[in-house]
Amino acid sequence: MKKQPGWALPNLREAQKRTKKEAIIERSLFQIPVEVRDLGLGKKYYLRTYGCQANERDSETLAGILEELKFEAVETPEEADLILLNTCAIRKNAEDKVLGEIGHLKHLKDKNPDLVFGLCGCMAQEEEIVQIIVEKYRHVNLVFGTHNIHRLPELLYEVMSCHKRSIEVLSKEGDVIENLPVRRFGKNKAWVNIIYGCDKFCTYCIVPYTRGKERSRYMEDILDEVRQLKAEGYKEITLLGQNVNAYGKDLKIEGGFARLLEEVAKIGIDRIRFTTSHPWDFSDEMIDIIAKYDNIMPFIHLPVQSGDNQILKIMGRRYTREQYLTLFHKIKDRMPNCAISTDIIVGFPNETEEQFQHTIELVKECQFDNAFTFIYSPREGTPAAAMEDNVSLEVKQRRLQELNDCWNEYAHEKNNAYLGQTVKVLVDGISKKNESILSGYTETNKLVNFKAKDAKPGDIINVKITECRTFSLNGEQV
Ligand code: 5AD
Ligand code: SF4
Repeated sequence: MKKQPGWALPNLREAQKRTKKEAIIERSLFQIPVEVRDLGLGKKYYLRTYGCQANERDSETLAGILEELKFEAVETPEEADLILLNTCAIRKNAEDKVLGEIGHLKHLKDKNPDLVFGLCGCMAQEEEIVQIIVEKYRHVNLVFGTHNIHRLPELLYEVMSCHKRSIEVLSKEGDVIENLPVRRFGKNKAWVNIIYGCDKFCTYCIVPYTRGKERSRYMEDILDEVRQLKAEGYKEITLLGQNVNAYGKDLKIEGGFARLLEEVAKIGIDRIRFTTSHPWDFSDEMIDIIAKYDNIMPFIHLPVQSGDNQILKIMGRRYTREQYLTLFHKIKDRMPNCAISTDIIVGFPNETEEQFQHTIELVKECQFDNAFTFIYSPREGTPAAAMEDNVSLEVKQRRLQELNDCWNEYAHEKNNAYLGQTVKVLVDGISKKNESILSGYTETNKLVNFKAKDAKPGDIINVKITECRTFSLNGEQV
Protein backbone atom coordinates (compact mmCIF):
# COMPACT_ATOMS: atom_id res chain seq x y z
CA MET A 1 0.00 0.00 0.00
CA LYS A 2 1.35 3.43 -0.93
CA LYS A 3 1.28 5.64 2.13
CA GLN A 4 0.62 9.30 1.47
CA PRO A 5 2.27 12.12 3.44
CA GLY A 6 0.23 13.01 6.50
CA TRP A 7 -1.37 9.59 6.86
CA ALA A 8 -1.17 7.65 10.11
CA LEU A 9 -1.90 3.94 9.72
CA PRO A 10 -2.78 1.40 12.43
CA ASN A 11 -0.22 -1.04 13.80
CA LEU A 12 -1.44 -3.99 15.87
CA ARG A 13 1.94 -4.60 17.51
CA GLU A 14 1.98 -1.05 18.79
CA ALA A 15 -1.64 -1.37 19.89
CA GLN A 16 -0.77 -4.43 21.97
CA LYS A 17 1.83 -2.63 24.09
CA ARG A 18 0.89 -1.44 27.55
CA THR A 19 2.74 1.18 29.57
CA LYS A 20 2.40 1.99 33.25
CA LYS A 21 1.90 5.65 32.39
CA GLU A 22 -1.36 7.01 33.77
CA ALA A 23 -3.69 8.55 31.19
CA ILE A 24 -4.01 12.30 31.39
CA ILE A 25 -7.48 13.72 31.99
CA GLU A 26 -7.79 16.35 29.28
CA ARG A 27 -10.31 19.10 29.89
CA SER A 28 -9.67 21.32 26.89
CA LEU A 29 -8.11 19.12 24.20
CA PHE A 30 -11.15 19.22 21.95
CA GLN A 31 -11.23 22.50 20.05
CA ILE A 32 -12.96 23.70 16.93
CA PRO A 33 -10.51 25.86 14.93
CA VAL A 34 -12.02 29.12 13.66
CA GLU A 35 -11.71 28.14 10.01
CA VAL A 36 -13.89 25.02 10.45
CA ARG A 37 -16.60 26.53 12.62
CA ASP A 38 -19.15 26.62 9.82
CA LEU A 39 -17.85 23.62 7.89
CA GLY A 40 -21.19 21.84 8.00
CA LEU A 41 -23.44 24.81 7.35
CA GLY A 42 -26.16 23.72 4.92
CA LYS A 43 -24.73 20.19 4.85
CA LYS A 44 -26.24 16.94 6.02
CA TYR A 45 -24.73 13.90 7.70
CA TYR A 46 -25.78 10.28 7.90
CA LEU A 47 -24.24 8.34 10.78
CA ARG A 48 -24.61 4.58 11.10
CA THR A 49 -23.48 2.66 14.15
CA TYR A 50 -22.49 -1.00 14.30
CA GLY A 51 -21.63 -3.11 17.34
CA CYS A 52 -21.65 -2.50 21.05
CA GLN A 53 -22.80 0.19 23.46
CA ALA A 54 -19.33 1.79 23.49
CA ASN A 55 -19.85 2.49 19.80
CA GLU A 56 -23.37 3.80 20.42
CA ARG A 57 -21.93 6.23 22.95
CA ASP A 58 -19.08 7.20 20.60
CA SER A 59 -21.65 7.93 17.91
CA GLU A 60 -23.37 10.35 20.29
CA THR A 61 -20.03 12.16 20.52
CA LEU A 62 -19.57 12.10 16.74
CA ALA A 63 -23.07 13.53 16.31
CA GLY A 64 -22.29 16.15 18.96
CA ILE A 65 -19.14 17.24 17.13
CA LEU A 66 -20.85 17.29 13.73
CA GLU A 67 -23.72 19.37 15.05
CA GLU A 68 -21.26 21.85 16.61
CA LEU A 69 -19.84 22.16 13.09
CA LYS A 70 -23.45 22.89 12.02
CA PHE A 71 -24.08 19.67 10.11
CA GLU A 72 -27.67 18.47 10.22
CA ALA A 73 -28.61 14.80 10.78
CA VAL A 74 -30.54 12.86 8.12
CA GLU A 75 -32.10 9.40 8.15
CA THR A 76 -30.88 8.06 4.80
CA PRO A 77 -27.46 8.00 3.12
CA GLU A 78 -29.02 9.25 -0.14
CA GLU A 79 -29.72 12.67 1.41
CA ALA A 80 -26.25 13.07 2.94
CA ASP A 81 -23.18 15.17 2.13
CA LEU A 82 -21.26 13.16 4.72
CA ILE A 83 -21.69 9.44 5.34
CA LEU A 84 -19.96 8.11 8.44
CA LEU A 85 -19.91 4.43 9.39
CA ASN A 86 -18.91 3.80 13.02
CA THR A 87 -17.81 0.18 12.81
CA CYS A 88 -17.31 -2.98 14.88
CA ALA A 89 -14.45 -5.50 14.58
CA ILE A 90 -15.48 -8.14 17.10
CA ARG A 91 -16.19 -10.88 14.52
CA LYS A 92 -15.61 -11.26 10.82
CA ASN A 93 -19.32 -11.19 9.97
CA ALA A 94 -19.56 -7.71 11.58
CA GLU A 95 -16.80 -6.54 9.26
CA ASP A 96 -18.27 -8.21 6.20
CA LYS A 97 -21.51 -6.33 6.80
CA VAL A 98 -19.69 -3.00 6.80
CA LEU A 99 -17.58 -3.80 3.74
CA GLY A 100 -20.76 -4.85 1.94
CA GLU A 101 -22.43 -1.57 2.90
CA ILE A 102 -19.45 0.49 1.72
CA GLY A 103 -19.62 -1.25 -1.64
CA HIS A 104 -23.38 -0.88 -1.79
CA LEU A 105 -23.18 2.90 -1.17
CA LYS A 106 -20.41 3.53 -3.71
CA HIS A 107 -22.87 4.72 -6.36
CA LEU A 108 -23.66 7.75 -4.18
CA LYS A 109 -20.06 8.91 -4.44
CA ASP A 110 -20.19 8.35 -8.22
CA LYS A 111 -23.22 10.65 -8.36
CA ASN A 112 -21.80 13.24 -5.99
CA PRO A 113 -18.00 13.54 -6.14
CA ASP A 114 -18.03 15.97 -3.19
CA LEU A 115 -19.58 13.36 -0.90
CA VAL A 116 -17.43 12.70 2.17
CA PHE A 117 -17.41 8.97 2.86
CA GLY A 118 -15.96 8.17 6.26
CA LEU A 119 -15.15 5.04 8.23
CA CYS A 120 -14.32 5.10 11.93
CA GLY A 121 -14.57 2.88 15.02
CA CYS A 122 -12.92 -0.46 15.71
CA MET A 123 -12.47 -1.62 12.09
CA ALA A 124 -10.42 1.49 11.42
CA GLN A 125 -7.95 0.29 14.07
CA GLU A 126 -7.18 -2.87 12.05
CA GLU A 127 -4.16 -2.91 9.72
CA GLU A 128 -5.74 -5.41 7.35
CA ILE A 129 -8.97 -3.44 6.99
CA VAL A 130 -7.35 -0.07 6.41
CA GLN A 131 -5.21 -1.65 3.71
CA ILE A 132 -8.33 -2.99 1.98
CA ILE A 133 -10.04 0.40 2.27
CA VAL A 134 -7.04 2.28 0.90
CA GLU A 135 -6.55 -0.07 -2.04
CA LYS A 136 -10.01 -1.33 -2.96
CA TYR A 137 -12.54 1.15 -1.60
CA ARG A 138 -11.16 4.34 -3.04
CA HIS A 139 -14.43 6.21 -2.58
CA VAL A 140 -13.80 6.18 1.19
CA ASN A 141 -11.94 9.44 1.75
CA LEU A 142 -11.93 9.72 5.54
CA VAL A 143 -10.68 7.10 8.01
CA PHE A 144 -10.05 7.67 11.69
CA GLY A 145 -9.95 5.40 14.72
CA THR A 146 -11.28 5.14 18.25
CA HIS A 147 -8.47 7.20 19.83
CA ASN A 148 -8.78 10.41 17.85
CA ILE A 149 -12.49 11.18 17.58
CA HIS A 150 -11.65 14.65 18.88
CA ARG A 151 -9.72 15.30 15.65
CA LEU A 152 -12.84 15.02 13.49
CA PRO A 153 -13.12 18.79 12.78
CA GLU A 154 -9.56 19.02 11.45
CA LEU A 155 -9.82 15.77 9.47
CA LEU A 156 -13.06 16.87 7.87
CA TYR A 157 -11.46 20.17 6.96
CA GLU A 158 -8.66 18.33 5.15
CA VAL A 159 -11.17 16.36 3.12
CA MET A 160 -13.71 19.10 2.44
CA SER A 161 -11.53 22.17 2.00
CA CYS A 162 -8.16 20.74 0.99
CA HIS A 163 -9.69 17.87 -1.06
CA LYS A 164 -7.32 15.33 0.47
CA ARG A 165 -7.97 11.74 1.36
CA SER A 166 -7.53 11.81 5.10
CA ILE A 167 -6.41 8.72 7.03
CA GLU A 168 -5.43 9.12 10.66
CA VAL A 169 -5.49 6.09 12.94
CA LEU A 170 -3.49 6.13 16.17
CA SER A 171 -2.38 2.78 17.54
CA LYS A 172 -1.68 4.06 21.02
CA GLU A 173 -4.70 5.00 23.04
CA GLY A 174 -5.12 8.65 23.74
CA ASP A 175 -5.89 10.28 27.05
CA VAL A 176 -9.29 10.71 28.64
CA ILE A 177 -10.92 13.71 27.00
CA GLU A 178 -13.58 15.32 29.13
CA ASN A 179 -14.72 18.21 26.96
CA LEU A 180 -16.19 16.38 23.96
CA PRO A 181 -19.68 17.42 22.93
CA VAL A 182 -22.51 14.89 23.02
CA ARG A 183 -25.86 14.64 21.28
CA ARG A 184 -27.72 11.95 23.23
CA PHE A 185 -29.96 9.79 21.06
CA GLY A 186 -32.35 8.88 23.88
CA LYS A 187 -34.43 11.13 26.13
CA ASN A 188 -34.97 8.70 28.99
CA LYS A 189 -32.01 6.37 28.92
CA ALA A 190 -28.36 7.43 28.69
CA TRP A 191 -24.96 5.80 28.42
CA VAL A 192 -22.21 6.93 30.76
CA ASN A 193 -18.63 5.87 30.07
CA ILE A 194 -16.70 5.02 33.21
CA ILE A 195 -13.64 3.22 31.84
CA TYR A 196 -12.20 2.98 28.35
CA GLY A 197 -10.15 0.11 26.89
CA CYS A 198 -9.35 -3.38 28.11
CA ASP A 199 -6.21 -5.00 29.53
CA LYS A 200 -7.52 -8.55 29.82
CA PHE A 201 -6.26 -9.80 26.46
CA CYS A 202 -8.52 -12.84 26.23
CA THR A 203 -6.78 -14.73 23.44
CA TYR A 204 -9.65 -14.52 20.93
CA CYS A 205 -10.50 -10.86 21.41
CA ILE A 206 -9.55 -7.85 19.30
CA VAL A 207 -10.91 -5.26 21.74
CA PRO A 208 -7.69 -4.66 23.73
CA TYR A 209 -6.05 -3.77 20.39
CA THR A 210 -8.81 -1.58 19.00
CA ARG A 211 -9.69 0.21 22.23
CA GLY A 212 -6.31 0.46 23.96
CA LYS A 213 -5.39 0.12 27.59
CA GLU A 214 -7.76 0.58 30.51
CA ARG A 215 -8.27 4.24 31.35
CA SER A 216 -10.76 5.28 34.03
CA ARG A 217 -12.53 8.59 34.23
CA TYR A 218 -12.36 10.48 37.51
CA MET A 219 -15.20 9.60 39.83
CA GLU A 220 -16.27 13.23 40.22
CA ASP A 221 -16.56 13.64 36.43
CA ILE A 222 -18.80 10.57 36.23
CA LEU A 223 -20.93 11.69 39.17
CA ASP A 224 -21.30 15.18 37.69
CA GLU A 225 -22.50 13.65 34.42
CA VAL A 226 -25.05 11.47 36.24
CA ARG A 227 -26.29 14.44 38.30
CA GLN A 228 -26.74 16.43 35.11
CA LEU A 229 -28.60 13.57 33.42
CA LYS A 230 -30.92 13.30 36.39
CA ALA A 231 -31.53 17.05 36.30
CA GLU A 232 -32.36 16.75 32.59
CA GLY A 233 -35.00 14.14 33.40
CA TYR A 234 -33.22 10.93 32.42
CA LYS A 235 -34.68 7.86 34.12
CA GLU A 236 -32.01 5.29 33.46
CA ILE A 237 -28.27 5.31 33.00
CA THR A 238 -25.98 2.48 31.98
CA LEU A 239 -22.40 2.67 33.21
CA LEU A 240 -20.18 1.53 30.37
CA GLY A 241 -16.83 -0.19 30.19
CA GLN A 242 -15.37 -3.22 28.41
CA ASN A 243 -14.82 -4.39 31.96
CA VAL A 244 -16.50 -2.18 34.55
CA ASN A 245 -15.02 -4.12 37.48
CA ALA A 246 -11.59 -2.76 36.56
CA TYR A 247 -12.88 0.76 37.19
CA GLY A 248 -10.45 2.91 39.15
CA LYS A 249 -7.56 0.43 39.30
CA ASP A 250 -5.39 2.57 37.02
CA LEU A 251 -6.10 5.68 39.08
CA LYS A 252 -5.83 3.75 42.36
CA ILE A 253 -9.33 4.88 43.32
CA GLU A 254 -10.14 3.36 46.67
CA GLY A 255 -13.14 1.04 46.58
CA GLY A 256 -13.07 0.86 42.77
CA PHE A 257 -16.28 0.02 40.94
CA ALA A 258 -18.25 -0.91 44.08
CA ARG A 259 -17.69 2.56 45.51
CA LEU A 260 -18.52 4.27 42.23
CA LEU A 261 -21.72 2.25 41.96
CA GLU A 262 -22.74 3.27 45.49
CA GLU A 263 -22.01 6.96 44.85
CA VAL A 264 -24.02 6.81 41.61
CA ALA A 265 -26.89 5.08 43.41
CA LYS A 266 -26.98 7.81 46.07
CA ILE A 267 -27.62 10.45 43.39
CA GLY A 268 -31.05 8.88 43.18
CA ILE A 269 -31.57 8.43 39.45
CA ASP A 270 -34.40 5.87 39.01
CA ARG A 271 -32.53 3.09 37.28
CA ILE A 272 -28.86 2.20 37.12
CA ARG A 273 -27.41 -0.52 34.94
CA PHE A 274 -23.82 -1.41 34.10
CA THR A 275 -22.07 -3.48 31.47
CA THR A 276 -19.88 -5.50 31.03
CA SER A 277 -18.66 -7.33 34.14
CA HIS A 278 -15.81 -9.81 33.97
CA PRO A 279 -16.27 -12.75 36.36
CA TRP A 280 -12.59 -12.58 37.30
CA ASP A 281 -12.70 -9.52 39.53
CA PHE A 282 -16.38 -9.34 40.45
CA SER A 283 -16.05 -8.46 44.14
CA ASP A 284 -18.28 -9.30 47.11
CA GLU A 285 -18.56 -5.55 47.71
CA MET A 286 -20.16 -5.21 44.29
CA ILE A 287 -22.76 -7.84 45.17
CA ASP A 288 -23.45 -6.06 48.48
CA ILE A 289 -23.98 -2.70 46.77
CA ILE A 290 -26.21 -4.12 44.03
CA ALA A 291 -28.33 -5.83 46.72
CA LYS A 292 -28.45 -2.74 48.93
CA TYR A 293 -29.81 -0.14 46.50
CA ASP A 294 -33.24 -0.44 44.91
CA ASN A 295 -32.22 1.79 42.03
CA ILE A 296 -29.41 -0.53 40.94
CA MET A 297 -31.22 -2.94 38.66
CA PRO A 298 -31.16 -6.64 39.52
CA PHE A 299 -29.62 -7.64 36.24
CA ILE A 300 -26.03 -8.66 35.57
CA HIS A 301 -24.41 -9.50 32.26
CA LEU A 302 -21.73 -12.00 33.21
CA PRO A 303 -20.00 -13.51 30.16
CA VAL A 304 -18.81 -17.07 30.77
CA GLN A 305 -17.56 -17.82 27.20
CA SER A 306 -17.14 -21.56 27.86
CA GLY A 307 -18.00 -24.15 30.48
CA ASP A 308 -14.81 -26.10 30.04
CA ASN A 309 -11.70 -25.47 32.15
CA GLN A 310 -9.17 -26.28 29.45
CA ILE A 311 -10.87 -23.96 26.94
CA LEU A 312 -11.21 -21.22 29.56
CA LYS A 313 -7.50 -21.53 30.21
CA ILE A 314 -6.54 -21.26 26.54
CA MET A 315 -8.96 -18.36 26.19
CA GLY A 316 -7.05 -16.60 28.98
CA ARG A 317 -10.22 -15.98 30.98
CA ARG A 318 -8.53 -16.20 34.42
CA TYR A 319 -11.25 -18.26 36.09
CA THR A 320 -12.34 -21.87 36.18
CA ARG A 321 -15.81 -23.25 35.60
CA GLU A 322 -16.04 -23.88 39.35
CA GLN A 323 -15.09 -20.28 40.19
CA TYR A 324 -17.69 -18.97 37.74
CA LEU A 325 -20.38 -21.19 39.25
CA THR A 326 -19.43 -20.12 42.78
CA LEU A 327 -19.79 -16.47 41.79
CA PHE A 328 -23.03 -17.16 39.94
CA HIS A 329 -24.61 -18.89 42.94
CA LYS A 330 -23.30 -16.27 45.35
CA ILE A 331 -25.15 -13.62 43.34
CA LYS A 332 -28.31 -15.73 43.13
CA ASP A 333 -28.26 -16.65 46.83
CA ARG A 334 -27.95 -13.01 47.77
CA MET A 335 -30.46 -11.76 45.16
CA PRO A 336 -32.79 -14.56 44.08
CA ASN A 337 -34.61 -12.18 41.72
CA CYS A 338 -31.47 -11.03 39.96
CA ALA A 339 -31.47 -11.90 36.25
CA ILE A 340 -28.17 -13.00 34.76
CA SER A 341 -27.25 -13.07 31.10
CA THR A 342 -24.09 -14.30 29.45
CA ASP A 343 -21.93 -14.51 26.34
CA ILE A 344 -20.76 -17.87 24.99
CA ILE A 345 -18.37 -18.74 22.18
CA VAL A 346 -18.64 -22.15 20.49
CA GLY A 347 -16.03 -23.71 18.26
CA PHE A 348 -12.98 -22.15 19.86
CA PRO A 349 -9.93 -23.76 18.14
CA ASN A 350 -9.93 -27.53 18.70
CA GLU A 351 -12.92 -27.52 21.06
CA THR A 352 -13.90 -31.19 21.48
CA GLU A 353 -17.46 -32.48 21.72
CA GLU A 354 -16.83 -33.27 25.37
CA GLN A 355 -15.61 -29.74 26.05
CA PHE A 356 -18.66 -28.34 24.28
CA GLN A 357 -20.91 -30.56 26.41
CA HIS A 358 -19.32 -29.00 29.50
CA THR A 359 -20.68 -25.67 28.25
CA ILE A 360 -24.13 -27.21 27.77
CA GLU A 361 -24.02 -28.61 31.31
CA LEU A 362 -23.09 -25.20 32.67
CA VAL A 363 -26.00 -23.60 30.80
CA LYS A 364 -28.32 -26.23 32.29
CA GLU A 365 -27.06 -25.42 35.75
CA CYS A 366 -27.20 -21.62 35.41
CA GLN A 367 -30.41 -21.35 33.39
CA PHE A 368 -29.50 -17.91 32.11
CA ASP A 369 -32.18 -15.31 31.47
CA ASN A 370 -30.51 -14.41 28.22
CA ALA A 371 -27.43 -15.45 26.28
CA PHE A 372 -25.49 -14.03 23.36
CA THR A 373 -23.94 -16.95 21.54
CA PHE A 374 -21.30 -16.82 18.84
CA ILE A 375 -19.26 -19.03 16.61
CA TYR A 376 -15.59 -18.30 17.22
CA SER A 377 -14.18 -15.94 14.62
CA PRO A 378 -10.38 -15.65 14.24
CA ARG A 379 -9.18 -12.05 14.61
CA GLU A 380 -5.89 -11.18 12.91
CA GLY A 381 -3.19 -10.32 15.45
CA THR A 382 -4.76 -12.15 18.42
CA PRO A 383 -3.04 -15.26 19.87
CA ALA A 384 -6.01 -17.55 19.09
CA ALA A 385 -5.89 -16.62 15.41
CA ALA A 386 -2.49 -18.32 15.19
CA MET A 387 -3.83 -21.60 16.66
CA GLU A 388 -4.57 -24.43 14.29
CA ASP A 389 -8.22 -25.37 14.32
CA ASN A 390 -9.54 -28.85 13.58
CA VAL A 391 -13.25 -28.10 14.06
CA SER A 392 -15.27 -27.77 10.87
CA LEU A 393 -17.76 -24.96 10.32
CA GLU A 394 -20.51 -27.56 10.07
CA VAL A 395 -19.75 -28.85 13.56
CA LYS A 396 -19.58 -25.30 14.92
CA GLN A 397 -22.97 -24.48 13.41
CA ARG A 398 -24.50 -27.62 14.90
CA ARG A 399 -23.09 -26.76 18.31
CA LEU A 400 -24.40 -23.21 18.10
CA GLN A 401 -27.86 -24.57 17.30
CA GLU A 402 -27.75 -27.05 20.17
CA LEU A 403 -26.60 -24.33 22.54
CA ASN A 404 -29.33 -21.94 21.40
CA ASP A 405 -32.04 -24.59 21.73
CA CYS A 406 -30.78 -25.28 25.23
CA TRP A 407 -30.64 -21.72 26.60
CA ASN A 408 -33.87 -20.71 24.83
CA GLU A 409 -35.75 -23.41 26.69
CA TYR A 410 -34.57 -22.10 30.06
CA ALA A 411 -35.11 -18.46 29.08
CA HIS A 412 -38.70 -19.32 28.15
CA GLU A 413 -39.14 -21.09 31.47
CA LYS A 414 -37.70 -18.07 33.30
CA ASN A 415 -40.16 -15.83 31.48
CA ASN A 416 -43.07 -18.15 32.28
CA ALA A 417 -42.50 -17.43 35.97
CA TYR A 418 -43.63 -13.84 35.27
CA LEU A 419 -47.17 -14.91 34.28
CA GLY A 420 -49.75 -13.07 36.41
CA GLN A 421 -47.10 -10.94 38.12
CA THR A 422 -47.15 -7.16 38.17
CA VAL A 423 -43.81 -5.67 37.22
CA LYS A 424 -42.34 -2.19 36.93
CA VAL A 425 -41.63 -1.16 33.36
CA LEU A 426 -39.74 1.88 32.07
CA VAL A 427 -41.67 2.81 28.94
CA ASP A 428 -39.48 3.10 25.86
CA GLY A 429 -41.85 3.74 23.01
CA ILE A 430 -44.41 2.36 20.64
CA SER A 431 -44.02 -1.29 19.70
CA LYS A 432 -42.63 -1.74 16.22
CA LYS A 433 -45.29 -4.27 15.30
CA ASN A 434 -48.44 -2.64 16.67
CA GLU A 435 -49.07 1.05 17.25
CA SER A 436 -51.60 0.58 20.08
CA ILE A 437 -49.01 -1.32 22.07
CA LEU A 438 -46.17 0.28 24.00
CA SER A 439 -42.94 -1.39 24.96
CA GLY A 440 -40.37 -1.10 27.71
CA TYR A 441 -38.10 -3.05 30.01
CA THR A 442 -38.54 -4.56 33.46
CA GLU A 443 -35.97 -4.04 36.18
CA THR A 444 -34.55 -7.44 35.21
CA ASN A 445 -34.18 -6.24 31.60
CA LYS A 446 -37.06 -8.23 30.10
CA LEU A 447 -38.71 -6.66 27.08
CA VAL A 448 -42.43 -6.12 27.71
CA ASN A 449 -45.05 -5.24 25.12
CA PHE A 450 -48.21 -3.99 26.79
CA LYS A 451 -51.62 -2.45 26.24
CA ALA A 452 -51.33 1.05 27.66
CA LYS A 453 -53.92 3.17 29.47
CA ASP A 454 -52.17 6.51 29.78
CA ALA A 455 -48.47 5.59 29.78
CA LYS A 456 -45.97 7.53 27.71
CA PRO A 457 -42.26 7.08 27.03
CA GLY A 458 -40.18 7.82 30.13
CA ASP A 459 -42.85 6.73 32.62
CA ILE A 460 -42.17 3.93 35.06
CA ILE A 461 -45.44 2.06 35.39
CA ASN A 462 -46.92 -1.22 36.63
CA VAL A 463 -47.71 -3.85 34.04
CA LYS A 464 -49.52 -7.14 34.67
CA ILE A 465 -47.98 -9.94 32.62
CA THR A 466 -50.52 -11.93 30.62
CA GLU A 467 -48.36 -13.91 28.19
CA CYS A 468 -44.77 -15.13 28.22
CA ARG A 469 -42.57 -15.80 25.22
CA THR A 470 -38.92 -16.77 24.88
CA PHE A 471 -37.61 -13.28 24.18
CA SER A 472 -40.37 -11.03 25.53
CA LEU A 473 -43.40 -10.70 27.78
CA ASN A 474 -46.87 -9.34 26.98
CA GLY A 475 -49.09 -7.50 29.43
CA GLU A 476 -51.48 -4.73 30.36
CA GLN A 477 -50.89 -1.51 32.23
CA VAL A 478 -52.59 -1.65 35.65
N1 5AD B 1 -15.18 -14.66 17.99
C1 5AD B 1 -16.43 -14.86 18.45
N2 5AD B 1 -16.96 -14.17 19.47
C2 5AD B 1 -16.19 -13.23 20.07
N3 5AD B 1 -16.44 -12.39 21.09
C3 5AD B 1 -15.35 -11.64 21.28
N4 5AD B 1 -14.39 -11.97 20.41
C4 5AD B 1 -14.89 -12.96 19.64
C5 5AD B 1 -14.38 -13.72 18.55
N5 5AD B 1 -13.15 -13.55 18.10
C6 5AD B 1 -17.68 -12.39 21.85
C7 5AD B 1 -17.45 -12.70 23.31
C8 5AD B 1 -17.65 -11.36 23.96
C9 5AD B 1 -18.68 -10.74 23.07
C10 5AD B 1 -18.79 -9.27 23.16
O1 5AD B 1 -18.28 -11.13 21.77
O2 5AD B 1 -18.42 -13.63 23.73
O3 5AD B 1 -18.08 -11.46 25.30
FE1 SF4 C 1 -12.36 -8.91 25.01
FE2 SF4 C 1 -11.81 -10.31 27.24
FE3 SF4 C 1 -11.56 -7.60 27.24
FE4 SF4 C 1 -14.01 -8.70 27.11
S1 SF4 C 1 -12.55 -8.87 28.81
S2 SF4 C 1 -13.24 -7.00 25.84
S3 SF4 C 1 -13.65 -10.56 25.90
S4 SF4 C 1 -10.36 -9.07 26.05
